[in-house]
Amino acid sequence: MSRLVPCGAAGLLLALLLSGCGKADAPSASASPSSSSGALTSTSGGVAAVSKYDAGPRAGESEVNEVLAEQGEKLFQSKGCSACHTFGKKMSGPDLRGVTMRRTAQWMENQILHPEVMTKEDPISHRLLGEMALQMPNQGLAPGEAKAVIEYLKHEDREAGVTTPTGTK
Ligand code: HEC
Repeated sequence: MSRLVPCGAAGLLLALLLSGCGKADAPSASASPSSSSGALTSTSGGVAAVSKYDAGPRAGESEVNEVLAEQGEKLFQSKGCSACHTFGKKMSGPDLRGVTMRRTAQWMENQILHPEVMTKEDPISHRLLGEMALQMPNQGLAPGEAKAVIEYLKHEDREAGVTTPTGTK
């Protein structure tokens, strides 16, 4: 019972001592356990890898427009995509097998229409640039042509049986 009294007094004394020398010690004191707040602003992972274009259902979750897909297949050849991309293996561009289960249609449309902007501003595209060590060139497609190519990519994934969303890997 009698222990309670000195405790209060010692606590007060300790508080005074800490606040007294805390000012001089401020920089080193903040170095100890407060790393969790520091981590939020640290540069460890760069910008958090959240793409504003990649939110929502994966492109391949919606029905394939087979008429557009056929046009898209021709564009994939004539617009030079096939020089760098194929399905089932990586060439100078990423393997496009499964791409419609990795990405949204909006993300792919932006990547196809504005690859030079995406690698700068979009975290996923920027990461791919690092992995491939190559900038995808702008192939000058019209928005409708990009949409047709995306239908073709969806068609390829259906044919290959890739029907499960895989997130942003
Ligand atoms: C000179 C090679 C090259 C050409 C041509 C090219 N790409 Fe790419 N593509 C790349 C590279 C490299 C990347 C990775 C991002 C970057 O570095 O720009 C990429 C990324 C992509 C992605 C994202 C892949 C993923 O895993 O998310 C898609 C989709 C894509 N390209 C489609 C196309 C289409 C469609 C065309 C034709 C209109 C095309 N590319 C033409 C090299 C190319």
